Amino acid sequence: MLIVSENLSDLRAEVLSWKQNNEVVGFVPTMGNLHEGHLSLISKIRRCGATKTIVSIYVNPKQFGPEEDYSKYPRTLDEDIKLLKKLNVDCVFCPSDKEIYPPNEKNLITTNNPSLMNELCGRQRPGHFYGVLLVVNKLMNIVRPDIAIFGQKDYQQYILIKDMVQQLFTSIDIVLAPIIRENDGLAMSSRNSYLNPDQRSKAVYLYESLVRASKKIYKNAGDYMSILDTEIERLNKDDLNVDYLELRKTDNLSNVEDYKNISGQYILLGAIRLGETRLIDNIIL
Ligand code: PAF
Repeated sequence: MLIVSENLSDLRAEVLSWKQNNEVVGFVPTMGNLHEGHLSLISKIRRCGATKTIVSIYVNPKQFGPEEDYSKYPRTLDEDIKLLKKLNVDCVFCPSDKEIYPPNEKNLITTNNPSLMNELCGRQRPGHFYGVLLVVNKLMNIVRPDIAIFGQKDYQQYILIKDMVQQLFTSIDIVLAPIIRENDGLAMSSRNSYLNPDQRSKAVYLYESLVRASKKIYKNAGDYMSILDTEIERLNKDDLNVDYLELRKTDNLSNVEDYKNISGQYILLGAIRLGETRLIDNIIL
């Protein structure tokens, strides 16, 4: 039976009773509007050994900039709960803002990785990763899972969370789950629902560019900057405003000094804007 918990203390009591029974608690943090990408996180965390699964649904105001889509972000709690019931998830945690950010709370700190937090997506979204780390830290402290899982689409988020968990000595295994794609290759995202039919048909060009560029880079081992420039030009011509298209090292997202074509070592990441909608994607080479 799915337990729906809005309350921090109820949730803690439930998890404590599981732990006393030696259950392995798996945590899937989400902002709701669940799609197949989220559902794959649930199956993967079970394959990783979770015997109890908690999904949180919370649209975190602190990770949205003032001009961003916080108010229009799709909220579909009833449908989400139906889906989670079908998947035999044990608990869904959907806290209120007051529960997560009590009104008397002062400026909170979290770990700080200033270079990476302000690069790639952080360059266009100042403060975004501060908000993400803050809420993930709070949620992990509430749930105290053994394992938590994050999707590869938000790879920069995953690296920053792994770094935070390591720096704070938090004993939670952080697992990465692969990107789930639509039939044409577009990475699944709640924000895809903002696209009109014309934008939707163009949205896949980002993935196509990533595939084309990663193949060329991998083969040539040569001037990857000019390969990326060609793709950026192509995308911009198609009215996809490129925020970035960058090759980085997979393990910590540092810059690539001297490229060598070794499988798994590099990741190509991209972000575009289609009208008001910002989409991200990546491919590990
Ligand atoms: O990836 C997301 O959906 C969010 O950034 C997360 C991890 C649930 C934090 O709000």
